[in-house]
Amino acid sequence: MNLVVLISGSGSNLQAIIDACKSGKIAGKISAVVSNKADAFGLTRAANENIPTVVLTNQEYADRAAYDEALIREIDKFAPDLIIMAGFMRILTAGFVNHYSGRMLNIHPSLLPKYQGLHTHQRVLDAGDKEHGASVHFVTEELDGGPVVLQAKVPIFEDDTPAELAQRVHVQEHFIYPLVINWFCKQRLVMNEGKAWLDGTLLSPSGYASDENDENLND
Ligand code: GAR
Repeated sequence: MNLVVLISGSGSNLQAIIDACKSGKIAGKISAVVSNKADAFGLTRAANENIPTVVLTNQEYADRAAYDEALIREIDKFAPDLIIMAGFMRILTAGFVNHYSGRMLNIHPSLLPKYQGLHTHQRVLDAGDKEHGASVHFVTEELDGGPVVLQAKVPIFEDDTPAELAQRVHVQEHFIYPLVINWFCKQRLVMNEGKAWLDGTLLSPSGYASDENDENLND
């Protein structure tokens, strides 16, 4: 499968996906990395692997719709089977989302539907929650609201800072995102009627639920 990854920043999830493609854990190839920020470190990660990069900053476009139309043109040059949002920090238009309906995944640093939007680690600490995590989901028109495919939980310890919590969540993100991408590449995962299905089974609102020795998690 042909993958295009969208980033805005460090690209640690991109790196996990690159590594998984190289080791065969993802049955796919990254054909391009697209960033809305010229200084995103993820662009260096891509260049190090000789992956084509595209930078599209919003300054050149009159409005969100014009930007998203240009983004579609750039992405579609690579004829992707799957669009992977890996820390792409922009709100998308309905036109963009619908163009890639059923073939766009996102990772979000919270146990959705809790903490949609920004600053999730700080908000979780402020609320005094005991656990936190990350969610991989299909992208739909509702911001951070598409069907969840897989979540990973982390504990919250006393005196945790947002940075410490983010680091703990990142470790889990780098595990669950390649796994879900590979399910899609192997055509085991689809979005149908706004819901996520794995191997023909409807996933629950919190995504795939596993038991400890689950071979789906060892793909
Ligand atoms: C990740 O933690 C990801 O969940 C988050 O941005 C970070 C990107 O890190 N995404 C969102 O907040 C999307 N709403 P990375 O650039 O090191 O992969």
